[in-house]
Amino acid sequence: MTDPRAAARALLGWYLDAGVDEAIGAGPVDRFANARRPATVPVAPTAAPSRVAAPSPRPVPVRHPAGPADAPDGPAGAARSAAGAAASLEALREALRGFDGCGLKVTATNTVFSDGIPGAPVMIVGEAPGADEDRAGKPFVGVSGQLLDRMLASIGLSREHNVYISNVLPWRPPGNRNPTEGEMAACLPFIRRHIELAAPRVLVLVGGTSAKTLLDRSEGITRLRGRWFDWQGPAGGPAIPALATYHPAYLLRSPGQKASAWKDLLALRRWLAEAGIELDRSAE
Ligand code: URA
Repeated sequence: MTDPRAAARALLGWYLDAGVDEAIGAGPVDRFANARRPATVPVAPTAAPSRVAAPSPRPVPVRHPAGPADAPDGPAGAARSAAGAAASLEALREALRGFDGCGLKVTATNTVFSDGIPGAPVMIVGEAPGADEDRAGKPFVGVSGQLLDRMLASIGLSREHNVYISNVLPWRPPGNRNPTEGEMAACLPFIRRHIELAAPRVLVLVGGTSAKTLLDRSEGITRLRGRWFDWQGPAGGPAIPALATYHPAYLLRSPGQKASAWKDLLALRRWLAEAGIELDRSAE
């Protein structure tokens, strides 16, 4: 006869292998039962083009030509229409709630929209919610978020006073797997519009995914970090200075890179001082 404890262990192992790494409730929830299926229009393996200019003097060419992902009736096209129609951050949050073009929404517990002060001078954009953020419905609340808070505090920034935070993806990929290109393409119009509506004075892109997708660059974060770019929104308003830096989760795994991250923070502090932006000295 099968040992029931061995069978239970085998079942748990199977769940772990499938990416089910935590229990979030006493009973199972079939999230697929009532969810409307996302559109099945094919998505091109590239993000929609963005208009990002290099610091100077060379403009950065847009490398991603329009493809099937840009079809007006595809997920990315639907996302662009929904995001573009939002005239305020609240309307954008509602647009995301009503958007069914990304399968990640089906498995996520919460839509993670933002934290901090809307309209703050500094906007941080990370990659995607993890388990803690998915549960809380807020970005950067887990261990990497705590390190991010300490890093920000070291230069007089905090989400209570002068920082606004969001992610490229508003939904947690199950088991923290890498998002697919289709999922990224369907979410990018929302974060682009999000930045436009939040209209920060400066953007800080943490981690390779955030920097590469929002700057439309192919280099890794090691090459992008510490550099300034001009981020241009889809509506073509004034460019926003954007600094790429390491993700705090990477710094937790590779503490030797903290010196580089500290240089980036000092560059940000200099930029803020030159721009006359007041810092929160009590946070330091
Ligand atoms: N990592 C991110 O990029 N974003 C979060 O919100 C949490 C962890």
